[in-house]
Amino acid sequence: MSDKKAHLEIDGIEGKIELPVYSGTLGPDVVDVRGLTAKGLFTYDPGFVSTAACESSITFIGGAKGILLHRGYPIEQLAEQSDHLETCYLLLFGELPNKAEKEAFISKVNAQRTVDNSIASLVKSFDRGAHPMSILCSATAALAGLYHKSLDITNNEHRVEAAINLIAKMPTLTAMCYRHSQGMDFITPNDDLDYAANFLYMMSGKTPSKTAAHAMDVVFLLHADHEQNASTSTVRLSGSSGTNPYAAIAAGIATLWGPSHGGANEAVLNMLNEIGDVSRIDEYVAKAKDKSDPFRLMGFGHRVYKNFDPRSRVMKKCCDEVLAELGNNNDPLLAMAKKLEVIALEDSYFVEKKLYPNVDFYSGILLKSLGIPVELFTCIFATGRTPGWISHWHEMLSEPYKIGRPRQLYKGAVKRDFVKLEDR
Ligand code: CMC
Repeated sequence: MSDKKAHLEIDGIEGKIELPVYSGTLGPDVVDVRGLTAKGLFTYDPGFVSTAACESSITFIGGAKGILLHRGYPIEQLAEQSDHLETCYLLLFGELPNKAEKEAFISKVNAQRTVDNSIASLVKSFDRGAHPMSILCSATAALAGLYHKSLDITNNEHRVEAAINLIAKMPTLTAMCYRHSQGMDFITPNDDLDYAANFLYMMSGKTPSKTAAHAMDVVFLLHADHEQNASTSTVRLSGSSGTNPYAAIAAGIATLWGPSHGGANEAVLNMLNEIGDVSRIDEYVAKAKDKSDPFRLMGFGHRVYKNFDPRSRVMKKCCDEVLAELGNNNDPLLAMAKKLEVIALEDSYFVEKKLYPNVDFYSGILLKSLGIPVELFTCIFATGRTPGWISHWHEMLSEPYKIGRPRQLYKGAVKRDFVKLEDR
């Protein structure tokens, strides 16, 4: 399989350990360390900074140059020339659809948009103040209850059906989370509207403008996949046990919620509100640079991108278009965001650490200008990311795979005898 080899010398082990090295079509080579277990060794990589946990053909990120490709197609071209559902098809099936395939895919998605009454009742049972991500996570897990007995995860067609069902239902669930929090009745999907326009319609009951619907579609598309990030890796790990895919996606939603991941878009807006005025930006930048202060500038930095996040450029353009249409170009939050962006690109702390604005920096402002409440931002991210999660799950199950089972460097107590309660 590989002519290239790595040779490892370890104190106390005689000779060199030979390890195969594999090359992908793009990106760094990988050293196959699986043979180390037989030598009584594990690799150590907390945070999976240098670990390729799987083979994948879906998405490539070139972090140093700021490149993002889905099935080889640059994200900028997809955002400009494609649309979210076509990108979902591309992620799931590997190729762009022809006209007939695209139409058939769209009608299958449209046919699955409505959710069962039992799910609507579940959403209604939540406290109105509950975070929408907790409702979305539970409602998605509840779908597993509806689609379990009849679902054979070893069957390709069943997996594709589950994928389409999830892509179709996620906007409906997200809109329900919002309407429930506002004490409003749910709105059934509108057959005359496309994916993003229908989502905005199910939120507000009004047909959105073309610019707003297009911006929403771009937001979904830009979030559609991002290789082996924390939530996608969670979906893969969870799915590797053979669990129900709706339950695996619920696990991905739980992971996405955190502020270091999908929750950053909400955190950006909360941060801008806390800063309150351009005059206080320097104070907050100083806090972010202070090692003794846990504060971080939300929306800056990325584990993989050490350059501009290519999604953030597209998001910024879209954001400018929406604000121009709404006549909101003087929005104080935008003024603060623009000043922060300049700082990040010029301040030596951010330049040396390669902390560029990421996708969440602009998506928060764009979503706010579309009238989406801040607490719902991460649900929008989850809705956009669903095709990526489910495509990775489908890819994993299409090939032989093993259950994910990391090992550890144990630092606990060595063996000792139990001490009776009266003797402690
Ligand atoms: N503000 C200030 N300093 C920062 C920031 C920031 N936003 N991000 C990283 N740093 C510093 C960090 O303190 C560290 O400094 P030092 O080397 O002196 O210890 C250095 O930069 C490297 O940071 P790290 O935490 O080791 O990097 P990481 O790869 O583990 O973390 C990150 C990546 C995204 C979690 C982090 O940059 C961060 O917390 N950013 C803010 C939250 C955010 O915007 N998250 C959204 C990520 S994009 C959406 C997604 O893909 O989910």
